[in-house]
Amino acid sequence: MKFSRRDIAKHLGLAAGLTGLVGAPLARAMVATPKQTEGPFYPPTPHGETDVDLTLLEGHTERAVGDVILVRGRVTNLDGNPLVGARVDIWQTNHFGRYAHPDDRNPAPLDPNFQGIGVTTTDESGQYGFKTIRPAAYRLTQNEDSAYRPRHIHFKVAHENASELTTQMYFEGDPLIEGDLVMEDTPEDQRASLITTEVEDVETGLPLHQFDIVLA
Ligand SMILES: [Fe+2]
Repeated sequence: MKFSRRDIAKHLGLAAGLTGLVGAPLARAMVATPKQTEGPFYPPTPHGETDVDLTLLEGHTERAVGDVILVRGRVTNLDGNPLVGARVDIWQTNHFGRYAHPDDRNPAPLDPNFQGIGVTTTDESGQYGFKTIRPAAYRLTQNEDSAYRPRHIHFKVAHENASELTTQMYFEGDPLIEGDLVMEDTPEDQRASLITTEVEDVETGLPLHQFDIVLA
C-alpha cells in the first residue's frame, strides 16, 4: 500500500496537509532545557568586566591559568526558532575549582587573571559564544568525606518572549556526573541535554563545547 503525502501529513496531525510537507520548513517540537539550581556563587559584584573572553582581563598581560575552551550554542524557543537578543550569563570556578565569591570556603587559590563571569546576547541566528577556562570539580563542603561536584558552568538565560532559565552545563566523560546531587534532581531522560561533547574548533584548534539551549 502506498501512502500519499496527504495521508502522511494527516497521520502526523498536520492540518496544512500537502503544503505542510513541501512548503515552509516544519517547526520542530523541542523539549525545554531542564532547570537546575543557581547555587550560592552567582557573582555579587562583577568587577566591571563581563565580556565574552573570561580568560583575559583588560590591562592584564597574563591569561587565566588552565585549559582555554570555547563554549558556543544556539538559544531557541520550543518551536525551534532562534531567540534573538537573549541575555546569556555564565559563571564558573577557575582552573583550581574556586569561585571568586566571598562565600566560597574552598581553600583552592583564586586566579587574579580569571574573569569568572561572562554576559552576552544572542545574535540574529540565536547564537552565543564564550572563551573561558575548563572549570574544575570541587567539594560541596570542606569535610574530607564531602561529595564532589562534577565540572560545570552555570548558565542563566533570559528573553522577553520566554521563561528565564537557570541551569548548568557539564562535560562528557566526567565520572563525577554519575551520582551528582544536582544531576540526580533532574529527570533522568533530560540529563543528557546538559552534557556537552568536546570537539575541535576548526578555526582556532581550541576545544569546543556546543551547548544549545531551549527556552519554554
Ligand atoms: Fe557551581
